[in-house]
Amino acid sequence: MVASAGGSGPPPRAYGGVVTDEQRPYGGGDSDPALKRVRTRHFQRAKEQGIKITGLTSYDFLSAAIFDEAGIDFLLVGDSAGNTVFGYDTTIPVTVDELIPLTRAVVRGASRALVIADMPFGSYENGPDEALATAIRFMKETGSHAVKLEGGVRSAKQIKRVVRAGIPVMGHIGFTPQSEHGLGGHIIQGRGDDGGDRLLADAHAVEDAGAFAVVLEMVPSAIAGRVTDELTIPTISVGAGPECDGQLLVWSDWAGFTRGRIPRFVKQYADLADTLLGAARSFKDDVESGVYPAPEHEYGE
Ligand code: KIV
Repeated sequence: MVASAGGSGPPPRAYGGVVTDEQRPYGGGDSDPALKRVRTRHFQRAKEQGIKITGLTSYDFLSAAIFDEAGIDFLLVGDSAGNTVFGYDTTIPVTVDELIPLTRAVVRGASRALVIADMPFGSYENGPDEALATAIRFMKETGSHAVKLEGGVRSAKQIKRVVRAGIPVMGHIGFTPQSEHGLGGHIIQGRGDDGGDRLLADAHAVEDAGAFAVVLEMVPSAIAGRVTDELTIPTISVGAGPECDGQLLVWSDWAGFTRGRIPRFVKQYADLADTLLGAARSFKDDVESGVYPAPEHEYGE
């Protein structure tokens, strides 16, 4: 969590850029011997203190351990696994049974980050009972610390029931990939007066239902800033601009592992696809030419 760059939310604290371990709401960082788990109450404190929250998706043990070591505040085991792990065209076919083993692996890799399990399409739309049953499965079978589900007004009853059972919920409004077909494609949400009013109504519904934070996906920065000002819970941007209380990206997009088109809001921090392609080609060349394995890779008698 780093100091807020501004916006119309609470006044940012003058940290001069990077937050020290002492300034974090919960401690943490390499130099803190009493490393603590990020909790949902720390999200709230971060918003109050103007400290930005960071999140990445993760779907496996190794990436979770790396992101955790880097101090990323939360790891979302997103149903984006449908695209990144399972190779589906959309997130719609993803099932709870597919996400459970991935979530377990991420929980094993993360000692500090809050791990959030994403509830896939078809696992909560039938109503509060179904939502609670799915959330309980994730909490019992994976060890995750919270769940996320899509929808504002339409999912408020589900959020309320899950929260009442003691399970923290992150909401998700704006562009909601599970309703891609209903929304008519990958379309920016919250534009125009109607769109802005709908987004605000969704945001308030999620907050009133008891969610501890809400993802705003693909909405204009100005309306995201307004939502951020009006809500007491933190807003987490996925393409919703700098005024939100935190930022979340799909790790394979962020690390340049995704090939082909990536959304405009993604900043790429590495070039993993080219690195791996180069490494695989070198391995093939070395094996075919007899360079690998060399004597140092062999076992003696
Ligand atoms: O599944 C996912 O990765 C998500 C984020 C993009 C918010 O829902």
